[in-house]
Parts: sequence; C-alpha cells; structure tokens
Amino acid sequence: MVRENIILTGAPPEPEHTEELALEIGLRPQTLDEFVGQHDLKERLSIILTAARARNEPADHLLFAGPPGLGKTTLAGIVANELGAELQITSGPALVKPGDVAAILSKIQSGDVLFVDEIHRVPTQVEEVLYPAMEDLQIDVMIGSGPAARSIRMPVEPFTLVGATTRTGLITGPLRDRFGDHFRLDFYSTDDLQAIVTRAADIIGIEIGADAAREIAARSRRTPRIANRLLRRVRDWAEVRGSGVVDLDAALQGLEMNQIDKGGLDRVDLLLLESICTKFGGGPVGLSNLAISVSEPKDTVEDVIEPFLIQQGYLVRTPAGRLATAKAWKHLGLTAPDNGGDADTTLF
Ligand SMILES: Nc1ncnc2c1ncn2[C@@H]1O[C@H](COP(=O)(O)OP(=O)(O)O)[C@@H](O)[C@H]1O
Ligand SMILES: [Mg+2]
Repeated sequence: MVRENIILTGAPPEPEHTEELALEIGLRPQTLDEFVGQHDLKERLSIILTAARARNEPADHLLFAGPPGLGKTTLAGIVANELGAELQITSGPALVKPGDVAAILSKIQSGDVLFVDEIHRVPTQVEEVLYPAMEDLQIDVMIGSGPAARSIRMPVEPFTLVGATTRTGLITGPLRDRFGDHFRLDFYSTDDLQAIVTRAADIIGIEIGADAAREIAARSRRTPRIANRLLRRVRDWAEVRGSGVVDLDAALQGLEMNQIDKGGLDRVDLLLLESICTKFGGGPVGLSNLAISVSEPKDTVEDVIEPFLIQQGYLVRTPAGRLATAKAWKHLGLTAPDNGGDADTTLF
C-alpha cells in the first residue's frame, strides 16, 4: 500500500514504531473523498486542487495546522495524489543548514509537492532560503568558502510547498504570509471517528461490531491516529482473550486494559489533571512546573496533551497559568477547595 512516489528526505519525526508506521501509512486515505470529516476544510481544499489541475499549474503553497494525529501528513499525500504530483517529504528538524533545503529545492521537478513537516522547527537561516523559493522560484546558493565565497541565484522549478505544524503561533509572520491558504484541523466528532475505525477495520481485515467501533471512537481523544491505535490494541485483546471478533465486550475490556477511561482520557491526561488539582490546588500553574510534575517535555504538554483537554473543557490557559475547571474536579471525583475553585467561580 505504500505509494511508490514518496521520496523520504530526512527522517519524518513520528510515529516512533516502525510497525505502527507501516500500518499507519497503509491506513492513510489517498483521496479527498476517502478522507473522513473536516467538511469545510475538504471543500476549500477541493476547490484549490481542482482549479490548479484545470489550469495545469502547481497549487498555491498550503499550510496545515493542528494537534498531532488529526491528518496533516495524510492531507499532504492527498494534495500530491490529487494533483498527480510527486511527493517529497522532509521536516523542520531535518533542515539544519541553508544548504539542506537548497539541495532539496534544486532537485525539485516541475509540479512536485514538497512537504515540510513540523515547519515551525525550521531554523531562521533555512527559512530565509525558503522565502525567495516560495515567492519567486529562486534560491541563493553559496559557492566556495572563505573570502572567495560568493552567492549565486538559481532558478527553482514551480512547486507546491505543503507545511504542517502543531503550532501556528510559532510560525514567523513572513513565512505564514507566503502560504496561499491556511487550514486548521479540528478534533473529530464521534460519528467521524466511528467511520474511521470502521474503515480501518475493513482495511486491516478485522471483523468489528458497530457498537464496538462506536466505543473505540468515543474514547480516542477525538483523534484518528489514536482511534486506529486503539483498534489494534482491542483486536489484540480479541485475538488473545476473546473470540477473535471485535465485539462490544472485547472493545470495553481492551480499552480498559489500555487505561482509557469513559471520557476518553488516557493515563497522562489524568495524571496532568490530577497534578493540577492535588499538587497545585487547581492552579494557576505554569507550564514548566506542570511539565516536571508529569515528567513530559514542555512541548509535549503544550502540543499533544493540553489541546484536547482544553477543547473538552477540563483545562483553561490563562496568563497566570493553567487552571483545572469544575469539570476536571468532578471527573476526578475530587472536591474543589472553596477558594481554589477559581475556575468554578470566575470562569464557570
Ligand atoms: N480524516 C481522516 N480520515 C481517515 N483516516 C484519517 C483521517 N485523518 C487521519 N487519519 C488516520 O490517522 C493517522 C494519522 O494521521 P496523520 O496524517 O499522520 O496525522 P498528523 O500528520 O496530523 O499527525 C493516519 O494514518 C490516518 O490513517
Ligand atoms: Mg504528521
């Protein structure tokens, strides 16, 4: 199922496990029609791609933003596929020096799609090579070194840059402005996730009941990547302990074993909320202290854990720090202190 026209340039950052990666690539929708949910985004993107195809030109540069696992990399593949273009993949952390990006751009062929994952992590000097490439199809290349070094302009073939980021806030204004369109991916509805789980089960060849698919969907942090991962864990349970078929019982038991609670919160979510409530009196607590208390890097707390908790109303970010909401206290079965119920009294 891996598409042959994918050229890997530098290591894509996630996910870590190669087995999961192989499965994930196999599950990636290849066309906009197969891409579930994100209705408005699909509509806008479809117009851009159809127009570009009709003009027989590369599409405008596109930026996809949103928490991990919502489909940014998938969409980059779909853009290339729908344009009938080659997809070249690289990522912010892989582009260390200006020469790294110059080397990629000089090999670009007319119409290619260049996907830069984690584009907010592209270093400033590399960004400066991207600007003239995106705008005027030119790059400045340094020839030689020392006093004899000089810079020459080289043309770049027309291409579409697709950027993905978990954090729009970290993208500099000049870079953001060079994208023709920005798309924000939202967390998915349970209906959409159920459709994603059912589709994935079909592709992997798992027999699954509608109620089981719904249960997995409801506990997936509203994230397709997690839905697909839980499906595989539940299938494991069904094969080892159950009848092999993923029915509701297998789903419930498999999910429980993976410590996903009814609200769809996983262990780390609960640990984070518990820390705020029990160690910091409900907050406000700063990001650094919070990250230390859950033993996760600050980036992970901010990009991976918090967006879902905020979207679900368990957590709020204020200038003074993070606050647990009344919903969080209630979910943990804890009673908010009278004074510490800032979140209760002033915000809810
Ligand atoms: N809208 C969608 N419909 C179906 N599957 C999806 C959708 N979005 C994501 N997925 C699945 O979730 C997995 C993770 O998506 P990915 O594009 O890698 O997320 P991101 O790049 O935003 O972290 C993919 O393997 C794909 O199977
Ligand atoms: Mg990705």
